Amino acid sequence: MADPKLSDARVLVITGAGISAESGIATFRGPGGYWRKMDPAKLATEAAFRSDPALVWEWYRERREQIRGACPNAAHIAVVELAATAGDFLLVTQNVDDLHLRAKWNGRALAPELCVQIHGDIFVTRCSRCDYRTTKRLHADDAASVPVCPRCEIALRPGVVWFGESLPPNEVQRVEAFLDGGRADVTIVIGTTALFGYIVEWAVRGRRAGGELVEINPEETPLSPHATRAIRGAAAAALPGLVAEWSHSGLGSSPSRHSVGG
Ligand code: OAD
Repeated sequence: MADPKLSDARVLVITGAGISAESGIATFRGPGGYWRKMDPAKLATEAAFRSDPALVWEWYRERREQIRGACPNAAHIAVVELAATAGDFLLVTQNVDDLHLRAKWNGRALAPELCVQIHGDIFVTRCSRCDYRTTKRLHADDAASVPVCPRCEIALRPGVVWFGESLPPNEVQRVEAFLDGGRADVTIVIGTTALFGYIVEWAVRGRRAGGELVEINPEETPLSPHATRAIRGAAAAALPGLVAEWSHSGLGSSPSRHSVGG
C-alpha cells in the first residue's frame, strides 16, 4: 500500500443488504428473504407493479414500517467513522433503507453527498410519468391503498430501482466521478452477494490500480477471488475493529490475504 495513513487515503465503501441484517432487516436472498412465500425478485419489477400495485405497495409498506422501527448497527456507525477519518470517501449502497444516513459517530452523521443510494430510496414516492416526488409519510403508509399522483392521477410508485430498470444516471455519474478522481486506496465491500456486474466492476477498479479490496461477508461471493483481504464474519462484529485498526496503525497494518473472523 502506497500511503499507510487513513487520513490521506481515498476510501470507497460498497454495501448491500448484509450490513443491515444485524439491524433486523432481512436480506433479499438469505433466510427470511421471502415475503409471504413470495420471491422479492418477482415483486420488485415494473410488470408486478402494473399487474397488482396494491400487492407491491403492501410489500413496500411493510418494509418501510420495519425500517422505521430499526436502528443503525455498529457497522453503519463504523462507516460514518471511516467517512470522517478518511482523506476522501464515498459510500455506494445498494440498500434502499436509511440506516446509513441515520447512523451517527461522535454526534456526526454521514453527509448526503458522501452517500450514493444506487438502487434508490424506499421512503421516496414518485410518479413514473411526471417529475412529482415526495418523501412525506402517505396515507398508503398506514392503510392498504395505492397512492395516486396529484397531477397525473396514476398510481405512484416507490422511488427504488426495480429489476430490468436502468440505474439513476446522476448517481452512476457520482460513482464514476469518484473513481475517475484517482485510485481508491481501499475498497471495502460489505454484505452483498455482488450479483450485479456494475458492483463488481466498481469494486475491482481500485484494486486494479494497486489498492486494497476488502470483503466483509460470512459467505464467499463472485467478488471473493478479487479480494486482497476477506473477513468471513458479520459486518457489525468485523468493521468497527478494522476501522479502529486503520485509524490507529494506518492502512499498512492490513494482514495478508484471507483472514477469517472479525
Ligand atoms: P442479498 O440478500 O443478495 O445478499 C446479502 C449478503 O449479505 C449475502 O452475501 C450474505 O452472505 C451477506 N450477509 C448476511 N448477513 C451478513 C452480516 N451480518 N454481515 C455481513 N454480510 C452479511 O443482498 P444484496 O447483495 O444487497 O436490488 O442484493 C443486491 C440487490 O438485489 C438489492 O439491492 C436489491 C436486490 O434485488 C434491487 O432492489 C434493485
